[in-house]
Amino acid sequence: MSEIRKKRVFSGVQPSGKLHIGNYVGAISLWRELQATADAIFCVVDLHAMTVPEAVKPAELRAKNREIAALYIACGIDPSRTTVFIQSEVTAHAELGWILTCATPLGWLHRMTQFKSKSERQETVGSGLLVYPVLQAADILLYDTDLVPVGEDQKQHIELCRDIGDRFNHLFGETFRLPSPLIRESGARIMGLDAPDQKMSKSTGETVPGHSIGLLDPPGAVKKAIMRAVTDPGQEFRDEHASPGVRNLVTLYEVLSGEPRQAIIDRYQGGGYGYLKKDLVDVVEATLAPIRAEHARLSADPAVLDRLLDEGASRARDLAAPVLARAKRNVGLGRA
Ligand code: AMP
Ligand code: TRP
Repeated sequence: MSEIRKKRVFSGVQPSGKLHIGNYVGAISLWRELQATADAIFCVVDLHAMTVPEAVKPAELRAKNREIAALYIACGIDPSRTTVFIQSEVTAHAELGWILTCATPLGWLHRMTQFKSKSERQETVGSGLLVYPVLQAADILLYDTDLVPVGEDQKQHIELCRDIGDRFNHLFGETFRLPSPLIRESGARIMGLDAPDQKMSKSTGETVPGHSIGLLDPPGAVKKAIMRAVTDPGQEFRDEHASPGVRNLVTLYEVLSGEPRQAIIDRYQGGGYGYLKKDLVDVVEATLAPIRAEHARLSADPAVLDRLLDEGASRARDLAAPVLARAKRNVGLGRA
């Protein structure tokens, strides 16, 4: 009888800024769905958060690691079924990252659009920011990953990961399984509520009120952000295609409520935007209230989270070890 291998799923979020409803809709809610059928690994990628040193201070990074790990679980990631861990606690990531860096043409990294946009915003650009997608490729390839559930902004990085793995396999012999991105059809790119032409972002959310809906924002702030969300100059909901702001609100409603998009449009079209917004506040609250409560419960007893993260790191080390050993052997590292 042939053994059926469950699909291996890997993804991660950086411990920087304020985790928001875009992260939840685009990535974490998808992780939660996948954990039922897949063999899933979810990582808090603190080595990645170091690439923009201004974004997280050393004293805050450790606390952020905890906060994000607790939020994964509060969002419904079940640590008894999945592996949840902190990236820097599994040294294989940094080791494979170096090996892959040596096999990646520089030109491939210069093509990454996220590097272009992030480096424009900084006075001094660390080399880590350029090499960051190679570390991301190491994260994924280390676990023989089949699927990487992410928001749309990460698609280029997952394609690069495939290219790096494929090139490595050609240069050094079959070593890595090549993964595919898994991206929502609707909700893969949630826009800022204050500026629907910009992606909702963790860093902007921390400094600009009304930009994002933070997963731990209090109900009053959530309501205010939604009621003030930019729609279009008219008063009535006419054509969703005419306004990116309205489209964004409908998308949030659609993914969080599970209701078909057209049914939502039919219900609110022709009425004032206030009706859509008011009901969206309730839909968002129904999602966030249990997340806040579970996060508070986990934060009250740090020992529980510590135990889960210790177990997760230990499982991740065991899974990564044979793949790292294979890569090292194939490139000729160590002794004959
Ligand atoms: P980051 O905020 O860059 O750490 O992203 C963590 C995960 O959330 C990645 O899978 C992103 O693709 C996803 N993500 C980030 N921002 C958004 C957004 N505005 N809409 C949908 N998904 C997002
Ligand atoms: N680069 C991703 C982001 O900024 C985070 C990340 C790091 C990641 N390693 C990963 C996502 C591996 C998926 C798989 O959102």
